[in-house]
Amino acid sequence: MKREFDVVVIGAGAAGMMCAAEAGKRGKSALLIEHYHRLGEKIRISGGGRCNFTNLHAKPENYLSENPHFCRSALARYTPQDFVKLVEKHGIAYHEKTLGQLFCDDSATQIINMLKIECDRAHVQWCMPCHVASVSGIAHQKDRFLVQTDHGDVTASALVIATGGLSVPKIGATPFGYKVAEQFGLKVVPPRPALVPLSFDPQSLAKFGDLSGLSLDAEVWCHEGCFRESLLLTHRGLSGPAILQVSSYWQNGSAKDPIHIDLLPGQDAVEWFTAHRQSKQQLANLLAERLPKRFAQSWCDAHGINLPMNQFSDRKLQEIANVLRDWQVKPSGTLGYNKAEVTLGGVDTRELSSKTMEATKVPGLYFIGEAVDVTGHLGGFNFQWAWASAVAAGQAL
Ligand code: FDA
Repeated sequence: MKREFDVVVIGAGAAGMMCAAEAGKRGKSALLIEHYHRLGEKIRISGGGRCNFTNLHAKPENYLSENPHFCRSALARYTPQDFVKLVEKHGIAYHEKTLGQLFCDDSATQIINMLKIECDRAHVQWCMPCHVASVSGIAHQKDRFLVQTDHGDVTASALVIATGGLSVPKIGATPFGYKVAEQFGLKVVPPRPALVPLSFDPQSLAKFGDLSGLSLDAEVWCHEGCFRESLLLTHRGLSGPAILQVSSYWQNGSAKDPIHIDLLPGQDAVEWFTAHRQSKQQLANLLAERLPKRFAQSWCDAHGINLPMNQFSDRKLQEIANVLRDWQVKPSGTLGYNKAEVTLGGVDTRELSSKTMEATKVPGLYFIGEAVDVTGHLGGFNFQWAWASAVAAGQAL
């Protein structure tokens, strides 16, 4: 292996491969280091094996960060259409599933192969599997960084950290990126699991019996995050796109922080109840016209309100309508990094240039992708950030 490079990229996931290819195309000698024995594992398992590789509507508002404007520049300079052009150049068939979400028709491995081909064409060198023992700065030299690995030492004038977040540790996730940031005196926004199912304590779950597998269309919100998508009941609690989305806004660990669920989004329950005001039909049976039957039954039982419609006062029906519109539930936790799609938090973006991803205090050191405190909504936004931040750094190297 050659020992001196213009750039060493650590982490050969979505962002790392994209960045190394971009640097290589611009004539830089690049080495890509990956510690796992398989390449682009998160891409392979993404989007149910078909990789939701971008979202046509990606905009800064689709991202969470302590510094919300940071992502603006990179996203504007490398757009979903730019990535689509690359996908088309490689002849990969794709389709829009819903809401601007683009998926491969066949397999996510096509995206991994595409990135590998781009790296090979740009003469990127690989070291994989390869364990990085340490990275350090070398004062007053063109080759500013020394990377010690189990394949020997390498030096580089730029070092890109693309080691992602903490989700799904069994396929290679590590806190490496955060540790390097701290080693160089950069702040890290405390990481926590996001886009993750929510769990409930056994007592609250018992009130609903076994409804696992049922799904419903709902509007779910928590703080400033509000999503209308499907909600899935599981044997541990709640999941489904609406819950995964809102989990990123839920203050994990705070028992006082409820999530809010509108069980009849866009519908006027009071008007509906009024039309059945004189009916002897049980409330649960009426609700079962618009909600899954077993859910309607358990929900009424849990609230002690399973009576015929004509036995409720107007006030009580108004109260019930209010609870249907804003049903507040208090999760006990999340299913953690094993089940989370992404990690919230990461390298504090106030330490980085939004144009290049370079650490302002440490010339030549770059952080890209999920390692950075920029976290997208569900639906292709996280890959778009990986591509855009990688290209921003790759063009600046
Ligand atoms: P990524 O995690 O891809 O890559 C980091 C790489 O660094 C890995 O290869 C890792 O092994 C390596 N690494 C870690 N520590 C290292 C060390 N110490 N030394 C060397 N290498 C090291 N997003 C989306 O937009 N659409 C989707 O469909 C999905 N679907 C999805 C499903 C599931 C199950 C998960 C878990 C996640 C998704 N995501 C997603 C999120 C998406 O996968 C994620 O945001 C990107 O892969 C982030 O890209 P990065 O390159 O930053 O990290």
